[in-house]
This record gives sequence, C-alpha cells and structure tokens, in this order.
Amino acid sequence: MIATGKMQGKVALVTGGGGAIGGASARLLANEGAKLLVADERPETAKSVAQEIIDAGGDAEHIAIDVADPVQGKAAVAAAVSAFGELHVLVNVAAAVTPDAPVDELSLEEWNRAFAVNLTGPFLMSKFAVPEIRKAGGGAIVNMASQLGTIGVPNRSAYCTTKAALIHLTTILAAEVADDNIRVNSVSPGVIETPRTRRRFDTAEEFHASRGKLHMLGRVGQPEEIANAVLFLASKESSFVTATNLLVDGGYIYLKRQPGENGNT
Ligand SMILES: NC(=O)c1ccc[n+]([C@@H]2O[C@H](COP(=O)([O-])OP(=O)(O)OC[C@H]3O[C@@H](n4cnc5c(N)ncnc54)[C@H](O)[C@@H]3O)[C@@H](O)[C@H]2O)c1
Repeated sequence: MIATGKMQGKVALVTGGGGAIGGASARLLANEGAKLLVADERPETAKSVAQEIIDAGGDAEHIAIDVADPVQGKAAVAAAVSAFGELHVLVNVAAAVTPDAPVDELSLEEWNRAFAVNLTGPFLMSKFAVPEIRKAGGGAIVNMASQLGTIGVPNRSAYCTTKAALIHLTTILAAEVADDNIRVNSVSPGVIETPRTRRRFDTAEEFHASRGKLHMLGRVGQPEEIANAVLFLASKESSFVTATNLLVDGGYIYLKRQPGENGNT
C-alpha cells in the first residue's frame, strides 16, 4: 500500500461501495492511502470490496445500510468514526434501480423509492457526515449524479429528476459548508459498463453497439474512469473546486442527435 498517496491519513465512507462504480471508487481511494468504510445494502458485496482492500494492504471495514433510512445512515457515519477515529470524505454512490416506464405507468412506490434512495439518501448521509467532517478540520463530499441529471430521457422520469435535484443539492450544500473547509461536488457519468447498464442487453456486443454510439468518444466508459474523477474531487488536487458538476460522460450530453433519437443509460 502506498505510504505517500493522495489520500494518506484520510478516512472515507462510500455508499453503494459494493457496486461497480462505488467499488472502483473505494478501491482507488484506498490505494491512495484512505481508510475506507464500504457501505451498501448488499452486505456480501460491501464485504468483498472491503476484503479486497485489506488483501491489498489497506484498511477497510464494511457495513450494511439502506441510505434511505436515517437510523442506518447515522449508524454508518458513527461506525466510520468509531473504526478510524474521524471522517474526511463522503462519497454518495448508492442509487435505486427504477423500472423504465412512462409517467402514466410508473408506480408511486417506484417514484418514491427513487427519491428516497437517490436524493434523500445523500441528504441524510451529508446531514450526518458534515458535523464529523467539520470536526476533522474539513474534507470533501462527492455525489454520484448522472448525465441524465442534465438531459432527461423518456421513461426515466424518476431517475433523471432525482439526479437533477442531486446536482442542485450539491451546489447548495457546497455554499453552506464552504466556511468549514468542506468542498461538495457531483460527478455525472455517461453510460458506464456495469451490471446496471448491461441488464438491458442479452450480449456485451449489443450493449456496446447500442450505447457506445451515444458518446462523442464512440464507446461506453469503465467504472475506473469514474473512480478517477471521485479521487480528484476527494483529494486536495481539486482544492479550488466546489459546487461543480463534473461531467465524465465521453461527450454524451453535447453529442448532436437525430430528431427522435433518445439517449439512455
Ligand atoms: N452505470 C452507469 O452507466 C451510470 C451512469 C450515470 C450515473 N450512474 C450512477 O452511478 C452510481 C453507481 O452505479 P453503478 O452502475 O455502479 O450501479 P451498481 O448497481 O453496480 O451500484 C449501486 C450500488 O448501490 C447499492 N444500493 C442500492 N440501493 C441502496 C440503498 N438504499 N442503500 C445502500 N446501498 C444501496 C447497490 O446494492 C449497489 O451495490 C449510481 O448512483 C448511478 O445512478 C451510473
């Protein structure tokens, strides 16, 4: 493990840390010296990411939480502080999988769940983490938004709306905590190759053919390319960056589309 990494001496909590982008982010932060609490509603995946970090010589714990539950969110922040003494970085990655459906067919339950996990989750985690990060002398919060928080696509109303609101929440929180030496930013990935995006396709070839062309760069992204952005925003390399939404989308949102041609993830 690197003794002089960009995150040396820092403690980070990553929600959705058992998933593709959250896991890649947790591993990279740890590889740069951070101590990690990997939080996910799927304890087995959180545990395996934490174990990979430990096997690589790092420091990590895991916890099972539903970020939509204030009791569990508070417990996760307390667990990070209890395990590692303080908290400097919160990365909000957890998001619900919401079915594709037009507004008139999307159930209220699915709509509410998307908001509870994708928006209320980061609100709650930030609410509990800010006092600890403040106590530690400052740090960073990184919210995983989406390119679809900037441009909406049909049949994804709940997802797109929660991500747009998360980008907005990011700027407001950034203003509230700037004096505490806490920077708050969001990352907006394009289509990243993860089980979440692959699930719509039978084969890898179909996935790449359909989704790659939605980007100027002509391909989908990889979780590690998003982790690099998380590391940048979590570390002092971005010391003059706050309240921003960093698009890591291969040019997705500015690609000229034909009339009627929709993007998606
Ligand atoms: N994959 C993409 O193309 C893409 C594009 C734009 C944005 N994003 C965003 O990136 C993030 C990660 O996406 P991914 O593709 O790695 O997905 P993923 O499904 O691999 O990871 C999400 C993780 O969040 C966890 N989770 C879900 N609900 C939770 C809850 N209530 N409490 C705690 N954990 C919970 C899941 O168990 C999973 O491990 C999401 O916020 C997603 O919206 C992904």
